[in-house]
Amino acid sequence: MNRILVTGGAGFIGSHTLVELQTAGYDVVVVDNLSNSSAESLRRVEALTGKPVVFCQADIRDRAALTQILKDHPCDACIHFAGLKAVGESVEKPWEYYENNIGGTLVLLDVLRQQGCKNIIFSSSATVYGDPVEIPITEACPKGQCTNPYGWTKSMLEQVMMDMQKADPEWNIVLLRYFNPIGAHPSGTMGEDPNGMPNNLMPYITQVAIGIRAELGVFGNDYDTHDGTGVRDYIHVVDLARGHVKALQAIERQCGLAIYNLGTGKGYSVLDVVNAFQRVNGVPVPYSIKPRRAGDIATCYSDPAKAERELGWKAEYGIDEMCRDSWNWQKKNPNGYRKD
Ligand code: NAD
Ligand code: UD1
Repeated sequence: MNRILVTGGAGFIGSHTLVELQTAGYDVVVVDNLSNSSAESLRRVEALTGKPVVFCQADIRDRAALTQILKDHPCDACIHFAGLKAVGESVEKPWEYYENNIGGTLVLLDVLRQQGCKNIIFSSSATVYGDPVEIPITEACPKGQCTNPYGWTKSMLEQVMMDMQKADPEWNIVLLRYFNPIGAHPSGTMGEDPNGMPNNLMPYITQVAIGIRAELGVFGNDYDTHDGTGVRDYIHVVDLARGHVKALQAIERQCGLAIYNLGTGKGYSVLDVVNAFQRVNGVPVPYSIKPRRAGDIATCYSDPAKAERELGWKAEYGIDEMCRDSWNWQKKNPNGYRKD
């Protein structure tokens, strides 16, 4: 296995995964429509690895373009990150989310099989567990009711791929259920570059710390957790990226269908993260308590033992490195990639 098609490779997780793929010796072909990213991230990847990234600006819903890309650059496997991911926006624009995420993935899967590439790793999410019936969450935990269209696109696409693999066992399909990716490349040259107001905790914290926003709103302090604020399993994006290289190795071993949680197995509350960020970086993060956010759950963290056992993958970075690297990226790139 040599050349990997990476959809959504210009995005946050995709770009970090490119670095790990190139470092491990793979060649990469990126397909991205840049709807939520900038090609500058790819230049930063090249600067870090010293290797070229083949970039095709295209939409995964464009069957003709995808087919041509695969004819020009035959690939052995696909890592599929491309998709829309803003939970709130998905509630406002459900059709756009189903059309982009599900429509796009259906086209991609069809083109891949027509071109004889039946190996794919899919970016799924802990959101498919809904309000989980067990904590820590193993892969055997039943999937639950999603609270938004974004979550349903992940859940439904998992089902599509499971059914396809069952019907055609030549497919090797790895569904990776990410917990909460944060952090940035330790070099400070790559990181998360949200458009407008961040929805997620860590980019909000870094924007408060640098003075773009006045204070963090903590969404609820009356949950049944150790300090009343929501508990999540934050994972360093570089660890997450390395999980994809391990998943490719599983595909090389002909894994058939495989599902893995990618998390650290540790839960931190919102205030734990705020306190760690302030302690590690020595900068204040003013906050105030706000009402609960609709659709949030109290506690969500993984049991990552299956990935360690079967993939030989384990998160290596802790919350301190996650806070350090998120801040390092924000400080060095106060306006992200686009407006330097
Ligand atoms: P991101 O928005 O930074 O990256 C997604 C990339 O896909 C962007 O570069 C965007 O331009 C591209 N894209 C979107 N629609 C496309 C289309 N139709 N054709 C071509 N390119 C398209 O997001 P990310 O945080 O890097 O997430 C990557 C994947 O992981 C997504 O599928 C996301 O849903 C999933 N995921 C993310 C998280 C998270 O917290 N970041 C958690 C769980 C799962
Ligand atoms: C998010 C996604 C979810 C995805 C998951 C995994 C949302 C709403 N959900 O979940 O679909 O599967 O990541 O990556 O985006 N918080 C605040 N103030 C803020 C922002 C967040 O208090 O300004 C709190 C939240 O209430 C939550 C925690 O911080 O308790 C983490 O929130 P967030 O980063 O948005 O991630 P999740 O909601 O876990």
